[in-house]
Amino acid sequence: MGIDKKFIDQFVNITIKAALASSYLVGKKDKIAADKAAVDSMRSNLNNLDIQGQIVIGEGELDEAPMLYIGEKIGKNKGPEFDIAVDPLEGTNFAANNQPGALSVIAIAKKNNLFRAPETYMSKISTKVKEKNVIDLDYTVKKNIFNLSEYLNKKPESLTACILDRPRHEQIIRELKKLNVNIKLITDGDISGALLVTNERYGVDIFLGIGGGPEGVLAASALDAFDCSFQGRFLFVTDNDKIRAKKMGIKDFSKKYELNEIVSGDSLFCATGITTGDLVSGIKLQGNEFISETFVTHKSSGLKKVIKLKQNI
Ligand code: FBP
Repeated sequence: MGIDKKFIDQFVNITIKAALASSYLVGKKDKIAADKAAVDSMRSNLNNLDIQGQIVIGEGELDEAPMLYIGEKIGKNKGPEFDIAVDPLEGTNFAANNQPGALSVIAIAKKNNLFRAPETYMSKISTKVKEKNVIDLDYTVKKNIFNLSEYLNKKPESLTACILDRPRHEQIIRELKKLNVNIKLITDGDISGALLVTNERYGVDIFLGIGGGPEGVLAASALDAFDCSFQGRFLFVTDNDKIRAKKMGIKDFSKKYELNEIVSGDSLFCATGITTGDLVSGIKLQGNEFISETFVTHKSSGLKKVIKLKQNI
């Protein structure tokens, strides 16, 4: 049994409300306030659902996050048992500075089907290639690009790679340039970056580089509904990272995770735009009404679409 379709609207409503709450803080140069508005909304609305939920990816661990911390029980303590990953405001800088791409994001799987991870960095790669051994996190950039080029029957100069604009990616970017690959540099927001491989219209063939681990788990949850691949390796650098990981049951600190080791069984993913970006438009206020767009996937029913809604505030 998968996740009942009745939950699609309920969870879409959760990210819409969180996005609306955060939208009032767009451009106010206060990312903490914008995040708090989304977190407060998401938490109180999740607690109104007839579910027995547990946060597996959240705002941090109990000692650092008063709300939506990893392990927190959520819902009315009746109904199906779910693992829940949240990023109430993905792209805090985008919201604070009124830049494109701020989202409110949630992913749901049945209990014990979503990876529980501490907040660390993750090395990631996603493409529209589902076959094994074509693209791999452990291959060189050159090998991945040549394989992708052959697989898609596109010359490297016709391929586009999306990557976060960070000094740590200097080497990868240099290699992509040498191969003449087009580069889409993003300043933040790598959940969206990873999802740009899902449809030709986004014009991205491969997403790679190091970003947040929680964002990796959330992106994988959506990619699972598409014919796309994802691999991730958490980067546990400090002793503290390793202690926290161990507490969550992670034994092999250098393991490369395949998509279905991160999310298995059925899944539901919702990302509502706060500011307009590549995936969806942001919240538009019109008098007593507002318009929202939510990118939704529900694996078992094959639902993959953007839901546009006009609602009363
Ligand atoms: P926040 O919304 O928490 O600010 O995260 C934005 C983000 O760009 C993520 O999408 C990405 O995974 C991460 O930050 C990258 O981290 P860093 O800015 O430290 O490179």
